[in-house]
Amino acid sequence: MEEKLLNLKNQAISSILQVNSASELEGLRIAYLGRKGQVTEIIKELSSLPIERRKEIGRLANEVKRTIEETLRQAQGKLQKITADYLDVSMPGVKPLQGHLHLVTQTIEEITHIFERIGFTRVSYPEIEWDWYAFEGLNMPKNHPARDEWETFFIEDLAHQKYGEAVLTPHTSSGQLREMERVGKALPAARLPAGQGRQVPIRMLNIAKCYRRQADVSHAPMFYQFETLVIDKSINITHLKGTLDYFAKEYFGPNRKTRIRPFHFQFTEPSFEVDVTCIVCGGRGCRVCKQGWLELGGAGMVHPQVLRNGGINPQEYTGFASGFGLERVLMMKYGIDDIRLLFSSDLRFLNQF
Ligand code: FA5
Repeated sequence: MEEKLLNLKNQAISSILQVNSASELEGLRIAYLGRKGQVTEIIKELSSLPIERRKEIGRLANEVKRTIEETLRQAQGKLQKITADYLDVSMPGVKPLQGHLHLVTQTIEEITHIFERIGFTRVSYPEIEWDWYAFEGLNMPKNHPARDEWETFFIEDLAHQKYGEAVLTPHTSSGQLREMERVGKALPAARLPAGQGRQVPIRMLNIAKCYRRQADVSHAPMFYQFETLVIDKSINITHLKGTLDYFAKEYFGPNRKTRIRPFHFQFTEPSFEVDVTCIVCGGRGCRVCKQGWLELGGAGMVHPQVLRNGGINPQEYTGFASGFGLERVLMMKYGIDDIRLLFSSDLRFLNQF
């Protein structure tokens, strides 16, 4: 019986070491250690042995059983590792999660295409701007009350000798003088002798981040504006109205209503505000629009002094400008009733677009 047990042990170990699959391994476990397995059968026979042999053979049988169990365990571990390392190139791939462009970025592209189709060139100007470009050069001298709404985040201890303090720009109108300078390849605007003809026409589209101390359903402390500036000979209000109308029809569709109202800006004369019917309430009035119309932006004919500040002769050239809130227009297209959703990073919201 001892010999039989030792033979069984050797035989079992060598068969287990040659196994290539989990099912073969299970077959061997049953053959040796199952209810009718060879080792189990021998253990059952122990009772027929004389008592002193029974102890000795019993110990040996247990040792053989443990060795076979351990060899089975090791073989199983090896098989699992092989399976884990195995790369089946024919298996269908696991698609990685893919993001998409944020709605604000999509809108920047859409608006850019709309204006490019009628000859506008997209430009980009500093977000941290000198007082001159954001205020003073646009007819808002220091302490002028028109600054109140816009005076925003000034940057401490950063000032230019000529252009004043640095500020996070509160509107894209700060790009107007920059564009006039760029197009004229000019000296700094403040030093230009007035009345010099420049290289025109200008058809600028400036899309940039703006900053103000505001936060509610329709105001964010950081938001985007898109600004148009057109300067050429004989530009008049009909060009402005036509361009605003073109944009509204292209962006919102042919049936949406927009309107312009007289308003006052220091840097345009005459000036207007542009509204669109509110999509959130269908024009009845709600917490976003208040009275059924939502203000999209301001517009007007460029003030002659601003042209002069940009080195353009107002006797020769005229122009119009408009500045719209980018989030406002997209809210009015998709029916979004709180601007803060756009900056919340909530995927349940963002995945809808
Ligand atoms: C201006 O910023 C002028 N620069 C517009 C302009 C340009 C007038 C060219 C004339 C010629 P206003 O402060 O009204 O105007 O802002 C324009 C638009 O920006 C608003 O109608 C609104 O759509 C958007 N806007 C303003 N503040 C915020 C804010 N805190 N959050 C989101 N959108 C805003």
